[in-house]
Amino acid sequence: MIITRTKKELKETLKNLSKKPGKLALIPTMGNLHDGHLSLIKLAKLKSTKTISTIFVNPLQFAKNEDFSDYPRTHELDIEKLEQEQCDVLFMPINKDEVFPDTGKIKNIDSGMLGKDLCGKIRPGHFNGVLTVVNRIFELINPDIAVFGAKDYQQQILIRKMVKSLYSNLELLTAPIIRSQSGLALSSRNNYLSKDELLLASNLFKSLQRSVESYNNKISIDQIINDAQEFLKSNNLFPDYFELRDSQLKKIANNSFIGKRVFLSSVTINKTRLIDNIEF
Ligand code: PAF
Repeated sequence: MIITRTKKELKETLKNLSKKPGKLALIPTMGNLHDGHLSLIKLAKLKSTKTISTIFVNPLQFAKNEDFSDYPRTHELDIEKLEQEQCDVLFMPINKDEVFPDTGKIKNIDSGMLGKDLCGKIRPGHFNGVLTVVNRIFELINPDIAVFGAKDYQQQILIRKMVKSLYSNLELLTAPIIRSQSGLALSSRNNYLSKDELLLASNLFKSLQRSVESYNNKISIDQIINDAQEFLKSNNLFPDYFELRDSQLKKIANNSFIGKRVFLSSVTINKTRLIDNIEF
């Protein structure tokens, strides 16, 4: 795997790579790679002949009170994992200037109303930061394909919207959520949890599964959401939200909705926020 640490090295590497035929797939990450990330690489490799991953903890998507400085940085291990997956190139900028050379000239992307809903309500500005960095990475790499994970449901819908208006030739792939045996969706933030907290956290997925069952049994949406919130709280998982939406994240009023639906939730356990969803 070729590791590039500056924009200049990246440019040269991409120039050489462009001589190889076929599609270039991008897997943007913030590092601390787990099997969820590796499943994105596997999917990218199935759909392309060249793969590039990025590792960049993007300061723009963290609020001042959030975990930017504590976010796990495990570069050596990450490199080993990417080598094992036979990723062709890694762009791991030495500092933020290699991504945003002149902060005054950043092309800020506004995530609109949807960016202020759900996770955006509890993390103001987060999705503007995500879209701004993803757009910048697209500008730097110009991939044919980009792969994101379904765990970050709202993120991938917002990226899809941005791509539709700015990158009509870019193909977006969404990879399914990878879970531990307990059902907990894999996430770098699971590293913040103790053994006991990890056990409690697995109830987040249970609450989503139970909600789908209740929906299919024609229990009213209000009742389902109320039950789910009580169940979560009884397991020390404090819900920031628990909602039923359609696949574009519009609200669903009753059980007669036809089409793809998704229960989504964000919960806080001690200081750690976890998200999960189930599409049905
Ligand atoms: O999902 C993530 O890891 C990040 O939000 C992303 C897409 C790499 C942007 O920093």
